[in-house]
Amino acid sequence: MLPKINPTTTAAWKKLETYYAAFSETHIKELFQKDADRFEKYSVKFEDILVDFSKNRVDDSVRSLLVELAGECKLQDAIESMFSGEKINATENRAVLHTALRNRSNSAILVDGNDVMPEVNAVLAQMKDFSEKVISGEWKGYSGKEIIDIVNIGIGGSDLGPLMVTEALKPYKNHLNLHFVSNVDGTHMAETLKQVTPETTLFVVASKTFTTQETMTNANTARDWFLKTARDEGFIKNHFVAVSTNEKEVAAFGIDTKNMFRFWDWVGGRYSLWSAIGLSIACGIGFDNYVELLEGAHAMDNHFRHTDLDKNIPVILALFGIWYNNFYGAETEAILPYDQYMHRFAAYFQQGNMESNGKYVDRSGEPVDYQTGPVIWGEPGTNGQHAFYQLIHQGTKLIPCDFIAAAINHNQLGDHHPKLLANFFAQTEAMMVGKTESQVVAELKAAGKNNEEIAALLPFKVFRGNIPTNSILVKKLTPRVLGSLIAMYEHKIFVQGVIWNIFSFDQWGVELGKQLANAILPELLGDEKVTDHDASTNGLINAYKKMR
Ligand code: F6P
Repeated sequence: MLPKINPTTTAAWKKLETYYAAFSETHIKELFQKDADRFEKYSVKFEDILVDFSKNRVDDSVRSLLVELAGECKLQDAIESMFSGEKINATENRAVLHTALRNRSNSAILVDGNDVMPEVNAVLAQMKDFSEKVISGEWKGYSGKEIIDIVNIGIGGSDLGPLMVTEALKPYKNHLNLHFVSNVDGTHMAETLKQVTPETTLFVVASKTFTTQETMTNANTARDWFLKTARDEGFIKNHFVAVSTNEKEVAAFGIDTKNMFRFWDWVGGRYSLWSAIGLSIACGIGFDNYVELLEGAHAMDNHFRHTDLDKNIPVILALFGIWYNNFYGAETEAILPYDQYMHRFAAYFQQGNMESNGKYVDRSGEPVDYQTGPVIWGEPGTNGQHAFYQLIHQGTKLIPCDFIAAAINHNQLGDHHPKLLANFFAQTEAMMVGKTESQVVAELKAAGKNNEEIAALLPFKVFRGNIPTNSILVKKLTPRVLGSLIAMYEHKIFVQGVIWNIFSFDQWGVELGKQLANAILPELLGDEKVTDHDASTNGLINAYKKMR
């Protein structure tokens, strides 16, 4: 079980508060001036990934106090509890074992006394067999034609993971066209169905629970659309497969459970791309590349489990995040990949992080009196530079940023990549160093401005800098590297949840909206005036009924 320690009651937290009072105005530039070895001391190399933590508002004392905090919050025990299959998801009485899905060492992992690895390996073998048949064309549609299009129907973790990964690994894509339908807005399905034909389309219905309203609505619509042409329910087995933990509901939907890929309640939805939820990935980039993704994640798991806390990449990311979140009062964090293929990466970790650590009740059931999970957002560079970076550079909010880039681009097109990377390096430099008054004055003088003009413009052209960034530079965005990067962020989220004394692996907060939507749906069908909600909700529903 995870400990129940309020982090603010630890000695390390108190020391951090005291230290913060004296340190908070320190500029990162000063930290570099004081320490010639700062880059070496504050960067960690892991396989083909270099993580540079040096541009942070952190000195050796802050780092060691944060590590002390992790120690007092029993982080190392918590890590072992997770990896060894303890039921650390206490509100659902479940183990948390996405690490078992990528446990390439195949060592036994016990849940309720049973080794889960044989089952994990059996599903992987089933995924290999199926994906190879679909890719090779051995798997045929009802009219004997090969599959050309795969439509993944899922939402949240049953959508974002496969979508993000297949976009990030597009250079590894085969001939199969992948589509992802998640939104219950009929537009999403309608626009997708325009692009595919029933004879050559395979639907992967991906839902842990197989009860999610959006997914089941989309899956039923897809089935109706398919049957309109195929005209025989017996053909469903050639065109619909399910990925789920819920065999009963899969069978009730009409999918042959022989075409069901299982996973288990110890896999959280937002941590499920490593499970059979990754089936669309395996089909799209081939099973061997999917295994490489798992290998990369497993390597990061080993690093996380066995490396001292002060050299442990996910732990350092997490601790520095806590420093900004809880001491500097930063409310958000940006993830900024300078890689177009990673355009859904921030969206993926928006769910990963915010659904995990968006909790105000601690592990004892008490409301916390400190901040927990930050708002996560981001877009690829350089586009973001022309959109929201102004606020990062000169706004009133402190926004720590993670910059991610690859040294080798998959598309060696003219001088695009050096230009992309010049921006990547320039932005973290600009965020740290800023621009002083004397630099601005010198620039304006050189541009021929007189003293009056300089005085008028000066305040607007100064950049304070001192904006913290982590730079994550990888050699090339391969399946292995991506696997490691995803696992790195997953473990960062876990570490923060442990220290904030919250349960990171449930998501009760999404239930209320679902319940209320289910109650409202029948009210939308008739024309009667609705009166049993608050005045605003009644007013809106009744206005909708008049407008439609
Ligand atoms: O509503 C939140 C959520 O439960 C997520 O945690 C999950 O990833 C998503 O819905 C989809 O759930 P399912 O895979 O059961 O359809």
